[in-house]
Amino acid sequence: MKTITKAVIPAAGLGTRFLPATKAMPKEMLPVVDKPAIQYVVEEAVASGLDDVIMIIGRNKNALANHFDRVTELEIALERKGDHSKLANVNHSNDLADIHFVRQGDPLGLGHAVLRARKHVGHEPFAVLLGDDLIDDRDELLTPMIEQCQKREATIIALMEVPAESISMYGCAAVEPTDEPGVVRVTGLVEKPSAADAPSNLAIIGRYVLRPEIFDVLEETAPGKGGEIQLTDALQVLAADASIAGGVYGVIFDGRRYDTGDRLDYIKSVIQLALAREDLGADLAPWVKELGARL
Ligand code: G1P
Repeated sequence: MKTITKAVIPAAGLGTRFLPATKAMPKEMLPVVDKPAIQYVVEEAVASGLDDVIMIIGRNKNALANHFDRVTELEIALERKGDHSKLANVNHSNDLADIHFVRQGDPLGLGHAVLRARKHVGHEPFAVLLGDDLIDDRDELLTPMIEQCQKREATIIALMEVPAESISMYGCAAVEPTDEPGVVRVTGLVEKPSAADAPSNLAIIGRYVLRPEIFDVLEETAPGKGGEIQLTDALQVLAADASIAGGVYGVIFDGRRYDTGDRLDYIKSVIQLALAREDLGADLAPWVKELGARL
């Protein structure tokens, strides 16, 4: 199978949970410590060899395009000051990957956003990374998923165990074991079920390695939960009939994942990632402890 090089990053959400911060700025640009959330996601794709990135964007998304472009006046100012470390930081995001932008047009759901990448992706397998989920770069996820896609010639999704009361926020998978630990065969998928209807406590987290057959299925997928064209519904079609594209398998992730799409989890993400940083962690840790003791 051909090497996988393309990553689709849907970034057209309205970011309503973060209003008013996201009134004029996309939620993907919210800083997580000192980098916009979207940069972590692009860095993760690149670390797994995916340097051809297609971002699906909506309104107010010019900031995203600008972030991955050069800013000559800033470069000149930093050059003049001789601040080479800041200059390297500024230029890092321009040089990361080959980034293409596609407008989503009508925001009809995640499945619709992925379908917008069809022309650029063509007939190759590709990854989808959702910007709300950040995966700690010390823990592997996307690379083993790509390996599974190549080995099994099947669709691969990332799954994580969540508490039963949280499953209604996610796509949920019914699974059966394979002969490999940490890899399951997905027998069914349902988008955001109630705890009572959920077939398991395995949630889809925002990483997928898809085969191009998904596009034909998405074209036929009717609006589902919330009136949106759901990627989960198209994946269910592939899981139910392995003759279409080899079926669906899940890689179970038990590493560090940060959900930046929810305000409380966003705050926790910033603190956890800052604690892990060499330049901030040592000063922040005692303050967090002291704060905890005072509460
Ligand atoms: C989307 C998917 C859902 C998945 C989730 C992961 O939902 O539709 O299946 O579990 O991402 O973050 P959203 O969070 O965009 O509503």
